[in-house]
Amino acid sequence: MPQDPPRTRDANRRIPQSSSADSPEPQSSPSVSPASSPSSASPSSTMNYAAIADSYKSYAQGSPFKQYIEFPTIDALVGDIRGRSVIEIACGEGVQLFRLLAAGASEVVGVDLSSEMIELAERQRQLLDEEARQRSWFGVADAGNRDDFASLPHAPYDVTLAIWLLPYLPNRALLESAIANMGRVTKAGGKVLVTLYRQTVAPTELIDLPICHGWGARYRVREFTGQWRPIHPIETTLYWPGGEVTIDCVAAEEQIVLDSFRNAGFSNARLVEFVIGDDYPGNRAQLVEGLRSQMPVACVVGDRDEISG
Ligand SMILES: C[S@@+](CC[C@H](N)C(=O)[O-])C[C@H]1O[C@@H](n2cnc3c(N)ncnc32)[C@H](O)[C@@H]1O
Repeated sequence: MPQDPPRTRDANRRIPQSSSADSPEPQSSPSVSPASSPSSASPSSTMNYAAIADSYKSYAQGSPFKQYIEFPTIDALVGDIRGRSVIEIACGEGVQLFRLLAAGASEVVGVDLSSEMIELAERQRQLLDEEARQRSWFGVADAGNRDDFASLPHAPYDVTLAIWLLPYLPNRALLESAIANMGRVTKAGGKVLVTLYRQTVAPTELIDLPICHGWGARYRVREFTGQWRPIHPIETTLYWPGGEVTIDCVAAEEQIVLDSFRNAGFSNARLVEFVIGDDYPGNRAQLVEGLRSQMPVACVVGDRDEISG
């Protein structure tokens, strides 16, 4: 099936990528390495955060989407984090994990395909006190590569997060192997939480969802001819006062995602809506409606089976 070249843009900059939506095989993968010795193997994602690491950090660190939507969702769906270990796959510069570490997680481990993102995370880790440094670790890993998950510190984990990983898994084989890895690293009885785009709205023009105070996102379904493909290309622009970044990603068919979680040992995996924080300063009803009709996002949450299936 013909595809536009997948790309990553920081403002108007375009970067050619190597893999495409719904191509048959997982792409080559780097091995796990600590932040000080990042892997140099080619990435498996449709996009490359190397070019936008600093921009994404600017976005992530002040984002009201995170503050009023992602953080309350993680807190509501994962519950009290105190004394529980956490891995985040596709941790970026660590915004989720540093917050959970401060909230009392026993250990946090973050892995990401991008050595640039891991370097940003590692720089922040170095600013922590010695005790918190001991309880945190970041390294380069490809979500879809089983070997990358074979010897991570503190494994297995009570909680496995993948906040905005699934949109970067451009084919079914990669999606399934990434979710299988989540099953491998999660303790029996542990929790998984991932976020994803849904195949429920198909605007072919960019539509805008302002969240608050000049922050928001635009969303467009690419190559839509009336029917969704199992893994369909979409484009998202995140913007904030003074910056924006446009990212190519995908929306996978819900049944494929849920089946993959069940096969990975999360029998009760289910789709759940995001939770909006009580302190959201904007119009709640408008945001709920905007998320439903303009920016179709959701989570999958599940508990790792006590006995592997
Ligand atoms: C939108 S960012 C999310 C970062 C972080 N989870 C957050 O909540 O801010 C997506 C991240 O996915 C990472 N990523 C993309 N493909 C990946 C893969 N195959 N394995 C691991 N990480 C991947 C990117 O490098 C990027 O850091």
